[in-house]
Amino acid sequence: MRVVSGIQPTGNLHLGNYLGAIRNWVRMQEEISVDGECLFFLADLHAISMPHVPAELRSGTRDMAAALVACGIDPERSVLFNQAQVPAHAELQWLLNGTARMGWLNRMTQFKDKSGKNREGASIALYAYPVLQAADVLLYQATHVPVGDDQKQHLELARDIAQKFNNDFCNEESPVFTLPDPIMPPQAARIMSLRDGSAKMSKSDASEMSRINLTDNADTIMKKVKKAKTDPEPLPETAKELEGRAEASNLVTIYAALAGKSADDVLTDFAGEGFGKFKPALGELMVETLSPISARYVDLREDDEALDAILAKGALKARALAAPTLAATYNALGLFRG
Ligand code: TYM
Repeated sequence: MRVVSGIQPTGNLHLGNYLGAIRNWVRMQEEISVDGECLFFLADLHAISMPHVPAELRSGTRDMAAALVACGIDPERSVLFNQAQVPAHAELQWLLNGTARMGWLNRMTQFKDKSGKNREGASIALYAYPVLQAADVLLYQATHVPVGDDQKQHLELARDIAQKFNNDFCNEESPVFTLPDPIMPPQAARIMSLRDGSAKMSKSDASEMSRINLTDNADTIMKKVKKAKTDPEPLPETAKELEGRAEASNLVTIYAALAGKSADDVLTDFAGEGFGKFKPALGELMVETLSPISARYVDLREDDEALDAILAKGALKARALAAPTLAATYNALGLFRG
C-alpha cells in the first residue's frame, strides 16, 4: 500500500481541507504501519499555475508544512516534502504530456472554473495542471490517494493516463504504472462555504466569512458560525428531510464529521431546534477540534530552520522513491540516457 496526496501551499488550511482530506491522511498514516508508506507533499509547482507573489509562496510553503505537522502528519512516519525539491515530478509530467490527450484535459471542470471567462489568458500550467497531478501520484506507484470530492476527476484522469501509457509502451506483464484509487471520506468529501451552500469552502473565496481557517481563534470561529447563512426552519428528524436546504445540510454535515456521528444521529439530538441552539454547539465543537491544532501550529511556525529541515529530509526520501519509476518511464519511451 502506497498512500500519496498533496495540497497547494496557498492561503490558509481550512476546515474543508481538514475534514475532506488531511484528517484522512493522518488516519492512513496511523493505519499503514509496517505494510506500506505515506507520502504527503506541498504542491508548490501547482501553485504557479495562477498569478502569485513569490514571497507569499515561499512563506506559504512553510505555513502549510507547519499546518500539516500540527494536524498530526509525523515527518518521521510519513514522507513530507514540497514538489519543487523533487524535480522528478516536473520531469514525469513532461513525459506524460505525450500520453495525455487534449480532449481529456478539455473536460476538466477545474480548468473551466479557474479560467472563467478568460480562457485565452489562462496559463499553460493551469491547463496542464492535471497532468502534473497525475505525475505526482504515478511517480510513486500510489495505490491510494486520499482527497476531497473536487479532486475525483483529476484522479480519474491519472488512471486514464496510466492505463494508456501501460497499453502503448509496456508489456502486459510489466506495466510501468499502478492505477491509483481515490479515497474519500464518506460524509465530508465536500464541505461548502458558510455563506453559500452551493459553493465549496475554498481558500480562494474572497470572503473570509465563507471558511473556518485552522488558525482562527475561538472568537472568530464563534462569530463566523453565528453569521453562517441558514434558513428559518427548525432542524428536521432525518438527513433526508434536509434536501433542498443546502446551508442547513452543510452545517449538519460539518457537525457530524467533527463529532464522528452520522447526520441522522446529530438530528436525533437537535430535531425541532432552531439554529439559535445548533450554531453555538457547532461552534464549540469546532473550537474543541481546532484549538489544539492551532496552538501546535503557532509553536511550529516559529522555527523556519526546523521546518526547512523537515522538508529537506522528506525530499531526500521522495527523490529516492521516485527514481525507479522515472527511469522506467524514460526507458519505456525509448529515450536514451547514456
Ligand atoms: P487543494 O490544495 O485545493 O486541497 C487539498 C485537499 O483538500 C480537499 N478539499 C476539500 N475537501 C472537502 N471540502 C472542501 N471544501 C475542500 N476543499 C479542498 C481537496 O479535495 C484536496 O484533497 N490539486 C490539488 C493538490 C494536488 C494533489 C496532487 C492532490 C496536487 N497534486 C496529487 C492529490 C494528489 C489541490 O489543489 O488541492
